[in-house]
Amino acid sequence: MNNNDLIIRNENENDYRAVEELNREAFWNLSVPGCSEHLFAHVLRTHEAFVPELDYVAEIGGKIVGSVMYSRSKLIDENGTEKTVLTMGPICVLPGFQRRGISRKLLELTFEKAIQLGYDTVVNFGNPDNYVARGYKSCKKYSVSLEGGLFPCALLVKELKEGALAGHTWTYFQNDADSICADEEAVERFDAQFPPKVKAWQPSQEEFYIHSHSTITW
Ligand SMILES: CC(C)(COP(=O)(O)OP(=O)(O)OC[C@H]1O[C@@H](n2cnc3c(N)ncnc32)[C@H](O)[C@@H]1OP(=O)(O)O)[C@@H](O)C(=O)NCCC(=O)NCCS
Repeated sequence: MNNNDLIIRNENENDYRAVEELNREAFWNLSVPGCSEHLFAHVLRTHEAFVPELDYVAEIGGKIVGSVMYSRSKLIDENGTEKTVLTMGPICVLPGFQRRGISRKLLELTFEKAIQLGYDTVVNFGNPDNYVARGYKSCKKYSVSLEGGLFPCALLVKELKEGALAGHTWTYFQNDADSICADEEAVERFDAQFPPKVKAWQPSQEEFYIHSHSTITW
């Protein structure tokens, strides 16, 4: 199977379980022992902030190997004016199919669709390595901070329309769609619906710790 067979299409109900299994495979032990992204994908689809038009899968030979989802969040500027932006995630590609440009295709296509829907900005947390090649920049470059003025290294911003954020300072308020992922019992209960998988430490968890605890100060 190669990328010539790649189909990028909207997710449908029949894909739900496969997409949750894909999230579990891709994120397992990546940031913490185990993962919660399969639960996140599960609850996101019914959250009020979910954007179904941007819910896409990548399929090769009838197998779902990639997934991306988006939701709506907001930025508030120095005058208190609200702006709706997209939060991208979760995004994942099945191990074994990674580094073949699949997430690139998912993102490029959904960015185009997002522009057609009238969105001009994407803001999300993530490992910068995965996103800078897609045109994301540090939040600091666009004066987008968290409440309290923090500029996390992992807070990344992509202008879909050049200049969309120019001339203002912004505070990012992410929707609460992933809040259930902090509930370890809820994650365990959901994970029990999948085949057993061993939780373990791996170095990427330290990388995640470093990225998620770092802020830009100059
Ligand atoms: C991150 C992930 C979605 C990337 O998907 P992918 O299909 O492997 O990525 P692509 O092959 O399209 O590569 C996209 C770009 O990111 C870069 N990239 C991808 N993985 C990278 C890595 N581990 N380290 C550094 N750069 C990386 C590539 O160089 C590429 O840049 P290019 O387009 O200029 O060549 C995939 O590796 C994955 O599912 N990982 C586990 C889940 C995850 O981390 N999700 C993102 C949470 S922040």
